[in-house]
Amino acid sequence: MSSNETDKHTVGDILHRGAITVSSVSSSARLDSELLLASVMGVSRTVLLVNSDREISPENIEKFRVLIERRKQGEPAAYILGCREFWGLDFQVNRSVLVPRPDSELIVEEALKFVGDSTSLKFVDLGVGSGCLSIALVSELVKKSCDVRCVGVDISDAALTVAQMNAKKLGVSERISYVLGSWFDRRDQFNPPYDLIVANPPYVDRAEKVPVDLSYEPAGALFAEEHGLREARIIIEQSVQMLRPGGALLLEVGAGKRARLPSFLAPFEQSFETSYLGDDTPLDRFTVLRMIRR
Ligand SMILES: C[S@@+](CC[C@H](N)C(=O)[O-])C[C@H]1O[C@@H](n2cnc3c(N)ncnc32)[C@H](O)[C@@H]1O
Repeated sequence: MSSNETDKHTVGDILHRGAITVSSVSSSARLDSELLLASVMGVSRTVLLVNSDREISPENIEKFRVLIERRKQGEPAAYILGCREFWGLDFQVNRSVLVPRPDSELIVEEALKFVGDSTSLKFVDLGVGSGCLSIALVSELVKKSCDVRCVGVDISDAALTVAQMNAKKLGVSERISYVLGSWFDRRDQFNPPYDLIVANPPYVDRAEKVPVDLSYEPAGALFAEEHGLREARIIIEQSVQMLRPGGALLLEVGAGKRARLPSFLAPFEQSFETSYLGDDTPLDRFTVLRMIRR
């Protein structure tokens, strides 16, 4: 982003220039520009937007320029700011956790449909990362006076630290316990059967060409062998023993996989009734499997 004497320095103009600067690396350039300028000015995005005619001081323009440059190099806005909104909640993030994606809110929505009016729920969040899925779900169910208990699992100690911090900050820490380990491998730490398992495991095929943002995120949260389906396969195999009959596994498997899924899922037909959720257009932008234990 550059400026000169004749440029205007109102919020609206600076936002516009910031968005143009990052448009080559960001699919949400305008939003990124808004979030970064709001943080520099110490106001909410809403307050920023209703004051689009306000002049910005040269100091704040310079601070904004530095942040916009970082974004232009590919660093995700969430890492620059140290936070990301998910399900209307504010999650702390750092480079040891995946930045929560809006698409993954579908898992929370489907989990809430599955729970319906039940007065209790015992569930597992496999690969908690920032904790976004389980914390969002627990927060919703607590509002409905559901007696909800969760075990959150991650192979990354640093990710568990972030998830625990978020659970505490968002007031649900007494409902969630955490296990350091690989999926269900630490059997002694679990108390099956569970009603529900949610999982957003690494699923990016190593052969895929990926956007620059991903190089800032932990590789252990992103990439998986077997065309990106290895971790999903292990989770499905292990979930058979952990779910009650009628229990659900909601498993995100990412983009461009639909052609592979029928043969991938064939060995599990006896154990699960499966449906596909997400983007069912030919774009195959992302898929969540809804697998009900027979
Ligand atoms: C794609 S991220 C999802 C994070 C979070 N659930 C979300 O939706 O933003 C996958 C997470 O799984 C964790 N993970 C990777 N392999 C694992 C394994 N074998 N066992 C447990 N967790 C694992 C990673 O550390 C990472 O936090």
